[in-house]
Amino acid sequence: MTAATATTADTFRPALHYAARNTWLNDPNGLIFHDGVYHLYYQNNPLDNVWGNMSWGHATSPDLLTWTEHPVAIACDDDEDIFSGSIVFDRDNTSGFGTDSAPPLVAVYTSAFKPGSGHQGIQAQSLAYSLDGGYTWTKHTANPVLNRGSAEFRDPKVISYDGDAGSYWVMVAVEATDFQVVLYKSYDLKNWEPLSTFGPANATGGVWECPDLFSLPVDGDPNNLQWVLTVNLNPGGPNNGSAGQYFVGDFDGTTFTSATTVTEGPQDPERLGEYQWLDWGRDYYAAVSFSDVPDNRRLMIAWMNNWEYANHIPTSPWRSPMTLAREISLHTIGGKPRLTQKAAGNFRSLSAPAGTFSLEDSEISDGIHILEGAAGRVQRIDIALTTGSAREFGLIVRGDGDHGTRIGIRPAEGALIVDRRDSGQTGFHEAFASVDTAPIRTADGSYELTIYVDHCSVEVFAQDGLVTMTELIFPAPGNTDLAVYASGGTATVNSLRVTQYA
Ligand code: FRU
Repeated sequence: MTAATATTADTFRPALHYAARNTWLNDPNGLIFHDGVYHLYYQNNPLDNVWGNMSWGHATSPDLLTWTEHPVAIACDDDEDIFSGSIVFDRDNTSGFGTDSAPPLVAVYTSAFKPGSGHQGIQAQSLAYSLDGGYTWTKHTANPVLNRGSAEFRDPKVISYDGDAGSYWVMVAVEATDFQVVLYKSYDLKNWEPLSTFGPANATGGVWECPDLFSLPVDGDPNNLQWVLTVNLNPGGPNNGSAGQYFVGDFDGTTFTSATTVTEGPQDPERLGEYQWLDWGRDYYAAVSFSDVPDNRRLMIAWMNNWEYANHIPTSPWRSPMTLAREISLHTIGGKPRLTQKAAGNFRSLSAPAGTFSLEDSEISDGIHILEGAAGRVQRIDIALTTGSAREFGLIVRGDGDHGTRIGIRPAEGALIVDRRDSGQTGFHEAFASVDTAPIRTADGSYELTIYVDHCSVEVFAQDGLVTMTELIFPAPGNTDLAVYASGGTATVNSLRVTQYA
């Protein structure tokens, strides 16, 4: 394919999300804010747009919305694939890879050892370092630095712990098929000693991957910190396939104790809805947070895809976008600690919005009503709706009057839905066409949603970001209509504001 044809056909390339120029990506890796720039590394196949040849790709952004792709940061070789991991700024040069005046960035990644490597079939943790702010990397000569002789030990996230127990590096990683997070401690990133394990707990319908551990103030109170342990699992999510769950509790420097565990041991499918999910949609996986973001903000990015059909989505020449970066907060909701999320990118840095549309206090009668003047491909939609007699009501995005993606409320079920059965291309995999649901509560029959629509995705934030749903869609480029709909009765739009970005 020539570059010209690739560009013409590349109708799904996102405007607000990162995707590699012409290659495959999966998990975000090594997220760090350093020298005024957000660094996004990621699982990348530098040679193709399906999974393989796993290496760390690299992109940077000043605003979390516009990204610049750089050469591959850490490449696979004959001995190892470079699986997921994290990066820390080793400001005291504890590793000795830099100097006191020029401390290094240190990447901690999983070596997935290949046949003939001497560690065939093993996954173990290895180091690489950068002395130029993250653009070029050198593998440590004494890799791996942490080897349990396991075939399923991966995805190290290293944090700098500074608490009652002392100051040291803490690694969370997984024994994926044991549904366990394993915690280690180090003073120099090279020598690691075991601390504790966590799990199995709550969702265990698939392997545990890509954990993270961080503290957050509860309800904004810096004197009341709680710890959050996030764990992605595949499959076993609330709407099938890949998803991320979280636990809230305490970390004393050795052990994470969860206050939100519902079930221990093997998963009870009946109770999936009681677990805490980072996102209820089909395309939010391998979420991890940035290190060193100013003002103690906790920002996360996930891979916007699902292993059920990841290698088949109809994008070209690239495959798989990342989600928007999201700011995560911890709030007491119904007496329980819960995460809420909102988009974190600096939208003000984008060129002026291409237009806005608004509507107030308007009844939706039974049927589909296209909103003249609200059409667009890339939009932020803020809508407040109130229940009437309709059994389902909401918005149809990227539509043409008959077809489109429905984002709606089913009040009797207490459900937020994303229905992508008629969203555009769906036939590339039997698991893709779906109606996905998330629980949504209301005290007075009204609902507020913020939705980001891009060329191949919708991200829905409901209930002030307590419930989010992220889904890929592949609409025809000509399908730009925005409509409201009600089925089997009426509903009301209290307010609607649409901001067009492209
Ligand atoms: C999660 C994952 C990780 C692994 C990486 C390999 O999507 O399976 O556990 O490190 O992808 O690409």
